[in-house]
Amino acid sequence: MRPAIIFGTRPEIIKLSPVIRAFLERDIQPILIHTGQHYDYEMSQVFLEELELPEIDYHLEVGSGTQAEQTGIAMIKIEKVLMNEQPDVSIVQGDTNTVLAGALASVKLLIPVAHVEAGLRSHDRTMPEEINRILADHASEVLFAPTLEAKENLEREGIRRNVYVVGNTIVDAVLQNSEIAEKKSRILEELGLSPKEYILVTAHRKENVDNKDRLTKLVDILLSLPITVVYPVHPRAEERLKEYGLWHKLKTAPHIILTKPLGYLDFLKLEKNARIIMTDSGGIQEEAIILGVPCLTLRYNTERPETIKAGGNILVGVEKDLALRYVMKLLEDEKFYQRMASAKNPFGDGRAGERIVNILITLWEEGNLRVPS
Ligand code: UD1
Ligand code: UDP
Repeated sequence: MRPAIIFGTRPEIIKLSPVIRAFLERDIQPILIHTGQHYDYEMSQVFLEELELPEIDYHLEVGSGTQAEQTGIAMIKIEKVLMNEQPDVSIVQGDTNTVLAGALASVKLLIPVAHVEAGLRSHDRTMPEEINRILADHASEVLFAPTLEAKENLEREGIRRNVYVVGNTIVDAVLQNSEIAEKKSRILEELGLSPKEYILVTAHRKENVDNKDRLTKLVDILLSLPITVVYPVHPRAEERLKEYGLWHKLKTAPHIILTKPLGYLDFLKLEKNARIIMTDSGGIQEEAIILGVPCLTLRYNTERPETIKAGGNILVGVEKDLALRYVMKLLEDEKFYQRMASAKNPFGDGRAGERIVNILITLWEEGNLRVPS
């Protein structure tokens, strides 16, 4: 069997690493195609190194651009590789422009698409990710839903065939790396932090950072927090913070530490030891509940409602009063804190990568890994 794995951003590298590992354990060398949607060392290469992934077969160097430019250029470049390689299946993960480009280029060449993390829905069609998810799911032959809720979302849209609930590969990635992070990372010492005495923040979503009003409100929340804040800044957020004149305010606030985007081991260590996580990231909402750290999500909706239902995550948007009320409650009310921290991880047992690979191999052996006519 010759699978192609198509990825291009930080979260895709992290969440596909368990799938790549599982293929290698079955003596299958997947063709690795990196679109180059993310290209800075700390957004890409650091993860390839830390997660000890094999050599990338194709670096497509797509880079940044408008939604259509990025997706279109990625499609053209991916198509060339697929025509040349003719893999048995293209595997994509998540909801980025790379995913949409990979899924469309593949299915039109009659190469079946397997979508990892299928069925997530925020029901917010203004998000580029929501459009990417929906289209990628509908272009896919095999859909790996992380939870039953995700499977039900697919059913509601009429997708019933070849849907498998396997858990989320982020659990595999966290379990495979958190002990290594604990041993290897010196990030707490480097930043002068004590465990459970800081809030870890990330914010990079287009709807938060590309909107001056939203970003100003978000910064105002961070400036008002009564405890040390660590914020590893995504390049998109850094550009906007500087453009809107907000960077200096954060940089000079005595309780705020801004860093470059961090490698996975340092970031996992920071997550695990944080008192609270505040984020608009999808993957970090998942990691927070896996690691037992209360999460306040800086958004008005989430495609990870399981985390809210389980009690580990609360949506606070960029509403200062609401956000501060929950931060204070978490800092002062130990019972409330413990209730959130002990929410049960809804994303599975850490064996999603192995399940995905077993299912794909079985479908291929049975002759069922194909685009039906
Ligand atoms: C993308 C995904 C988003 C995901 C995020 C993970 C889409 C539509 N969005 O958003 O779902 O959460 O990746 O981090 O695919 N930039 C750099 N260096 C880099 C990469 C980006 O400077 O290595 C800057 C560029 O100015 C670029 C901007 O960040 O224009 C946005 O990058 P892009 O990949 O388009 O979107 P993300 O915001 O990273
Ligand atoms: N991450 C990291 N370093 C950072 C910020 C995030 O290693 O400085 C990891 C994080 O642990 C998670 C993933 O990147 O696994 C999330 O990526 P991101 O927030 O960029 O994307 P999203 O999950 O929102 O698509």
